[in-house]
Amino acid sequence: MKTIVRGVGHYLPERVVTNDELAKRVDTSDEWIVQRTGIKQRHVAAEGEYTSDLATKAAERAIAAAGLTPNDIDLIVMGTTTPDRTFPATATLVQNNLGIRHGAAFDVQAVCSGFVFAVTTADSHLKNGMGTRALVIGAETCSRILDWDDRTTCVLFGDGAGAMVLEAVPEDQEDDRGILSSCIRSDGAHWNKLYIDGGPSLTGTVGHLRMEGKEVFRHAVGMISDVVEGAFEKANKNVEDLDWFVPHQANRRIIEGAGKKLNIPEEKVIITVDKHANTSAASVPMALSVAVEDGRIKKGDLVMIEAMGGGFTWAASLIRW
Ligand code: ACO
Repeated sequence: MKTIVRGVGHYLPERVVTNDELAKRVDTSDEWIVQRTGIKQRHVAAEGEYTSDLATKAAERAIAAAGLTPNDIDLIVMGTTTPDRTFPATATLVQNNLGIRHGAAFDVQAVCSGFVFAVTTADSHLKNGMGTRALVIGAETCSRILDWDDRTTCVLFGDGAGAMVLEAVPEDQEDDRGILSSCIRSDGAHWNKLYIDGGPSLTGTVGHLRMEGKEVFRHAVGMISDVVEGAFEKANKNVEDLDWFVPHQANRRIIEGAGKKLNIPEEKVIITVDKHANTSAASVPMALSVAVEDGRIKKGDLVMIEAMGGGFTWAASLIRW
């Protein structure tokens, strides 16, 4: 069996917060944020709107785009660092919201790489017969774990959700469509460069995001290139074969650095960081959904997704759409 993409969808909370609005709260400016990160605005969830709500809306859109109904789904794998509660897994809350009573649902925690890790997890499950149709979600309410008085981090992140429906089909069907290869990596020696300063076991509180921005930047391009090259090699493809590069939307400078190192022309790179900011595990599926919706990514295109984040974790998947 192999795993093909049946549909994608995304959801952004209504409220948009511009850089100028943030500059009223902390000592920053639109010019500084745009120059250093490419971010112009971010969406922020409303009071009483939770990660599971954003995820459910994105999931409904992905299921509709796939021409399916929730009951066709028998596996939900969700990447998130901002679960509604410490437990149960937010994936089970989404399962309940969608009215699905069969199959299995669980969360994957790999911070910004969470969606790509979730894709590889669902792909392995489907190939091994542990389900036929999977909903893979990346959803975050990053706004809830930010220190809104820390200008070095609060300007970088946003809220949102993206979802993808995967289906197991026999290897000889659907031409050469499907997830062709994946590479996942982590190195916990870097944990203290990007972390939350609280947690259920550590402090009994949720805590706030802390980051050594320069250190993250220093490692990002090399780590991204490592897994992207690994995924190309496993699938016996190269950068000339690629139609679309859909990177984690952390920062425009990191995306441009990785694109340059990998020799990917700018016009093949999907960018949403200007409008969405860094939405952690939600950034890749939202960027995919935007590019499918506006007609750029089409059936048969070769698409590379990648992400890098806290842990550090880093991952890439090559998909024939
Ligand atoms: N507004 C204005 N000034 C600021 C701000 C701000 N929001 N934040 C920091 N500064 C100041 C600093 O205090 C410093 O001032 P000083 O020189 O007086 O001390 C000055 O700007 C330069 O700070 P640096 O940290 O050196 O700025 P740098 O050019 O490295 O940019 C940034 C910071 C944007 C965070 C950069 O390091 C970066 O992009 N790192 C990657 C981190 C990232 O994108 N993480 C996302 C999460 S991880 C992931 O998803 C992969």
